[in-house]
Amino acid sequence: MAEQKATNIVWHEGEVTAEERKANMGQTGATLWMTGLSGSGKSTVAVALEQVLLQRGKHAYRLDGDNIRHGLNKNLGFSPEDRDENIRRIGEVTKLFADAGVISICSFISPYKEAREMVRKLHDDGGQVFMEVHVNCPLDEAEKRDPKGLYKKARAGEIKGFTGIDAPFEAPESPEVELRTDQLSIEQSVEKLLDALASKGII
Ligand code: ADX
Repeated sequence: MAEQKATNIVWHEGEVTAEERKANMGQTGATLWMTGLSGSGKSTVAVALEQVLLQRGKHAYRLDGDNIRHGLNKNLGFSPEDRDENIRRIGEVTKLFADAGVISICSFISPYKEAREMVRKLHDDGGQVFMEVHVNCPLDEAEKRDPKGLYKKARAGEIKGFTGIDAPFEAPESPEVELRTDQLSIEQSVEKLLDALASKGII
């Protein structure tokens, strides 16, 4: 996806072991990766989950598509290439967070299977926990919610390449968690994510 441009670079190993880091943080880091349509509820559930985890004394941090595109990824748009680069960078960031012992709660449409699998592999290769969460809300329901009025704009042809309208969303085949946000309350979705984290021994 991204070529290695720099030459003459050498990895510099630290002296702190993963175990020491875990002991210092009092937890194991992990990445909860929420994927789903715009308006499916990713950010809403992420906000609620972050609250609960912090109340429980856990170190958790939200990484949100719209927010990251205001800073780190402000130079990226919504072409397939830019979306892939968006996810690649965030994948690297979440891997670092997980390595640092933080639970990151990610909400990115991340419409392409291959890019999500790349992020999973990054974590697998580094021994970090990665959990894919399909925030599964039917398009008609997401469009009905239309919290930012973007579906309306996309239908009117004012936004080109909008996910679900004229750009694809490739649903995960075997996500660790599926949240049918058209059927579950926010609290129920949070509960499912807490169960998933507990099943991996993260909380
Ligand atoms: S991703 O596809 O690259 O993963 P990301 O999650 O970062 O997307 O950003 C999605 C957010 O950008 C949406 O919630 C919406 O507010 C906004 N957005 C603007 N243009 C588009 C578009 N063409 N398709 C999808 N979302 C868009």
